[in-house]
Amino acid sequence: MIKFSDLGISSPLLRALEDAGYTRPSPIQEQAIPPALRGRDILGCAQTGTGKTAAFAVPILQRLSGHPPAGGKRPIRSLILTPTRELALQIYENFLGYGKYLRLRCAVIFGGVSQNPQVEALQRGVDILVATPGRLNDLIGQGYIGLSAVEIFVLDEADRMLDMGFVHDVKKVIARLPAKKQTLFFSATMPPEIVRLVNSLLVEPVKVTVTPVSSTVDSIDQSVYLVDKANKRRLLAHLLGDPSLASVLVFTRTKHGADRVARDLGKAGIPAMAIHGDKSQNARQNALSRFKEGSLRVLVATDIAARGIDINELSHVINFDLPNVPETYVHRIGRTGRAGASGTAISFCDFDELPYLQDIQKLIKKEIPQVTDHPWPMTQTEPSPKPQPQTRPKREPSSAPSRQAPRRAAASPSAGGGGSTESGPRRAAEPSAPPSSQPSRKRRRKRRPGTA
Ligand SMILES: Nc1ncnc2c1ncn2[C@@H]1O[C@H](COP(=O)(O)OP(=O)(O)OP(=O)(O)O)[C@@H](O)[C@H]1O
Ligand SMILES: [Mg+2]
Repeated sequence: MIKFSDLGISSPLLRALEDAGYTRPSPIQEQAIPPALRGRDILGCAQTGTGKTAAFAVPILQRLSGHPPAGGKRPIRSLILTPTRELALQIYENFLGYGKYLRLRCAVIFGGVSQNPQVEALQRGVDILVATPGRLNDLIGQGYIGLSAVEIFVLDEADRMLDMGFVHDVKKVIARLPAKKQTLFFSATMPPEIVRLVNSLLVEPVKVTVTPVSSTVDSIDQSVYLVDKANKRRLLAHLLGDPSLASVLVFTRTKHGADRVARDLGKAGIPAMAIHGDKSQNARQNALSRFKEGSLRVLVATDIAARGIDINELSHVINFDLPNVPETYVHRIGRTGRAGASGTAISFCDFDELPYLQDIQKLIKKEIPQVTDHPWPMTQTEPSPKPQPQTRPKREPSSAPSRQAPRRAAASPSAGGGGSTESGPRRAAEPSAPPSSQPSRKRRRKRRPGTA
């Protein structure tokens, strides 16, 4: 069996990995670390929770520590972009952990908080910078950041970073990077319509695909409850009545929905907090840390928590609403069942969401078992009336997850109502997508509930 020491990793890093409790490299680490250490570009696809962070962080730390910069202020030599502030912070903390026996400086910048401490850190000199694109471009614009010395560039959650919501900002960053550099892209999903763009940004990449792209982790027990929209909150409170649901992350499609679900749970005697793009950064970090520590049992979130976030001992993910981007399902449920642990993912699906369920099952190439024995079985048999035309979602310049292009109108009122969403544009919105992947009223009518 391969050991970390077989991968050409230096001893200060080996010691840090041992301190982290890692005994063996995961498959993505085993396959991506050696070519990354040789300076190759990498396109790394591996399931959620399989250690992609160390797969890029370890080679970066080792390569940069191999040739410290000569005197003067340290230039930024590695840049890691991530879609959310919380993920930027987490990756920064991972770098601190893996790099604890090295003398490299790492910093993190993201929006929603004062830029002053970030600017001060940058002015002291930083080798490795983890950033969300919005704040990065702000500080570049103000002249605080130069990227001409970047040697290694990473897009974590690469497909999200290159979708319509972020690609403009990311391209602005790429334009400032030197042409000669190493580029590392990682994600658990890689929708076909962005593969061309991905390939245009990588030079003769080593493509590491550990498991089928977009597959879900086998140790996650998945199920779906067909339920009317109006009964979802009752079903949620009912399920949460079971104390074996020890730590539960509930996803909603909208910020408003997240607030409402948290409020309804509170009224039902189940304390819960919500995080989404309209909350202050302090409130977001506070709720997430309480949840990560285990002092908060139920956290309700929009898709700002869908990608990358690593929560120890998260037992359950509940999709209160199904995402209309099927990849988002893979990331959401991947908050549980990490690093070999087991987990449970429960999804609520109302009549109008049946096409989403079908898209998800097509993507993950699995049928999600239905739980039919529950107190609120679905009674709706016709699509809900069409909603009023939606206005353009409000842009929120300082909040990375909300920096998105307006998405195609959602297929159903249940999905569209109640505020703006926070995940990426729908895959099927791309002109190249086959019409069959678009939820349509026609298809919905043909399919009986329960057969999706
Ligand atoms: N070799 C290893 N042995 C044991 N645990 C590991 C190993 N590598 C990483 N981990 C742990 O596994 C968990 C998941 O790692 P990480 O967040 O890097 O996953 P990921 O592949 O980036 O997932 P996602 O797709 O959700 O972003 C973390 O808690 C990390 O500390
Ligand atoms: Mg990750």
